[in-house]
Amino acid sequence: MRSPKDFFAPLAIGAPDPVRQIPALPSRMIHFFDPSNEKMAAKAPELAAKVDVLLGNLEDAVKADRKEAARAGLVRVARDNDFGTTQLWTRVNSLDSPWVLDDLVTLVTEIGDKLDVIMVPKVEGAHDIHYVDRLLAQLEARAGLTKPLLVHAILETASGVANVEEIAGASPRMQGISLGPADLAASRRMKTTRVGGGHPGYLVRTDPIGGELTEGRTTYQQDLWHYTVARMVDACVLHGILPYYGPFGDIRDVVACEDQFRNAFLLGCVGAWSLHPVQIDIARKVFSPAPGDVAWARKVIAAMGDGTGAVLIDGKMQDDASVKQCRVVAELADALAA
Ligand code: GLV
Ligand code: MG
Repeated sequence: MRSPKDFFAPLAIGAPDPVRQIPALPSRMIHFFDPSNEKMAAKAPELAAKVDVLLGNLEDAVKADRKEAARAGLVRVARDNDFGTTQLWTRVNSLDSPWVLDDLVTLVTEIGDKLDVIMVPKVEGAHDIHYVDRLLAQLEARAGLTKPLLVHAILETASGVANVEEIAGASPRMQGISLGPADLAASRRMKTTRVGGGHPGYLVRTDPIGGELTEGRTTYQQDLWHYTVARMVDACVLHGILPYYGPFGDIRDVVACEDQFRNAFLLGCVGAWSLHPVQIDIARKVFSPAPGDVAWARKVIAAMGDGTGAVLIDGKMQDDASVKQCRVVAELADALAA
């Protein structure tokens, strides 16, 4: 029986790595649709033209008695359409559910050649990824697939966060990790009121300093997800995979959605989930660097010549490290324009 390593062993140093090719494509928005909903499934081609990643969701938000219909619907959508450069992903049911085995067997067997990434929810540790990795290797070998399916973990249990580094490095199939703030909040017994948002009670209040200065003092709401996103980004960078913000459930609050996505972008995330068409353009805007930032980055890179030394540009000191910072922005802009 072939192991996942067989897919990767022949690579010479410096040769393009098949595992890294798909992540190199943009994945600013992972757009969720419910394949058990015939109306939504019929719109899949139209949606695919507008997004970087289209994801057929089989897990939460699909009712228990619609799980088989969702699985069959995704097989139909994948077979009937060619989405071109838009990636097709799925989110299977969790590894402790009665549906996941049939999800993996059916999807790999029937549409393994059409799927790019399998998102696995509620990953607790490397053992979960090892299990999926071995099962995929068996199913791929049986189906005669030559391109390995990649795996994306959702970070949505306290144990998953504690083990995030080992999860990120658990298999060469690992493509990325998303924050799952709703399940994570529940797992940690956090007190939150909306999916992926903040809470007005979680704030920084300035110390009472007495006298007239205390009047009208300002409070700032804090980002509940800062610690986890930062930790996830570090784990992903350590293992060369991609970090994502997950869902923002308050569809009408486009301002908070944009702010939450932007915080994740600024901390290093490459994309987020879109749960409604209105969030597609928000994610595209946020996860593409702003033209002014790109222009500034190119100006610094040009002024720094071979990238060493120090220069003053518009009164701001630039050196070897600032060139590296600027390359992050310029290279992302180039990759998205390609
Ligand atoms: C996503 O699955 C979440 O739980 O936030
Ligand atoms: Mg969840």
